[in-house]
Amino acid sequence: MEIFKLNNDVEIPVLGFGVFQIPQTETVQAVLNAIDVGYRHIDTAQSYMNESEVGIAISQAPLEREELFITTKVWISNYGYEKTYSSVIQSMEKLQLSYLDLVLLHQPFGDVFGSYRALADFQKEGKIRAIGVSNFNPERLADLVAFGKMPVQINQIEINPFHQRETDLDSAKTRGNVQLEAWAPFAEGRNGIFTNEALLKIGNKYKKTPAQIILRWIFERGIVSLAKSVKKERMAENIDIFDFELSDDDKTQIAQLETSSSQFFNHDAPTSVDYFAELVKERGI
Ligand SMILES: NC(=O)c1ccc[n+]([C@@H]2O[C@H](COP(=O)([O-])OP(=O)(O)OC[C@H]3O[C@@H](n4cnc5c(N)ncnc54)[C@H](OP(=O)(O)O)[C@@H]3O)[C@@H](O)[C@H]2O)c1
Repeated sequence: MEIFKLNNDVEIPVLGFGVFQIPQTETVQAVLNAIDVGYRHIDTAQSYMNESEVGIAISQAPLEREELFITTKVWISNYGYEKTYSSVIQSMEKLQLSYLDLVLLHQPFGDVFGSYRALADFQKEGKIRAIGVSNFNPERLADLVAFGKMPVQINQIEINPFHQRETDLDSAKTRGNVQLEAWAPFAEGRNGIFTNEALLKIGNKYKKTPAQIILRWIFERGIVSLAKSVKKERMAENIDIFDFELSDDDKTQIAQLETSSSQFFNHDAPTSVDYFAELVKERGI
């Protein structure tokens, strides 16, 4: 697996296996299958409710701990220094790990600075190798980098051919050299992405599928991808992207798929803040 080097020299495998929306009953097998086809980077979160199952899979995998790169994310209901600190310890227990490779703050709302200080303290203690955030727009990321006075290695955001995030990429590079990760690289299949004509046409040239074209395009932009599948043959397909290169013309075609809007929700909108506040208040999550 190819790697990118983070701004603190930690190496991250460029393709991660995401376990969002994989039911608990299927997670152990899915993670074992992903590891079997070659994934070494697993992306979970407290809110996915499957950290324990990821932990079982890791404990059963025929690999040394150091061969794996494991990410989790702190959910908003665990924001604030003390709660974040204790929730990360719980995540480590569920994952059966004495250290984590990457921990992110999942959303840009609430007591971000207090929570982030807890992650920075874990990093100083050597219990988390890299720290960062998720769903931060450029101004929120610039704020954390400029005023937080703490290292930021990663921002994990939605990136796919319909929402390409070029401004986010430029800004992350120039402000702290923060590595971007792409969630929903396939837009969860929305907007006909797997049958998109431009992607099929480019794929035909290299005998690759639209999924492989997308993941190659993200990799060539210097971005880590997190793709999810519960099907082993798709997991293998999604990792088989290192034997071809996109041409400038291919990239021009993909650039034209940009819609400049999220396929899911806009983190800038006050209604999105309401939505997350409601989740925490009403459902305790
Ligand atoms: N930080 C955040 O807020 C955030 C938000 C969302 C996601 N994420 C992370 O990003 C990961 C990926 O995002 P996602 O799961 O939302 O969406 P995604 O990876 O864009 O799409 C997953 C969907 O694509 C299908 N699929 C996968 N490979 C395929 C292929 N080669 N051909 C056809 N269909 C394929 C999957 O179906 P099958 O499973 O049936 O194959 C599933 O329906 C998550 O698992 C999670 O780790 C983070």
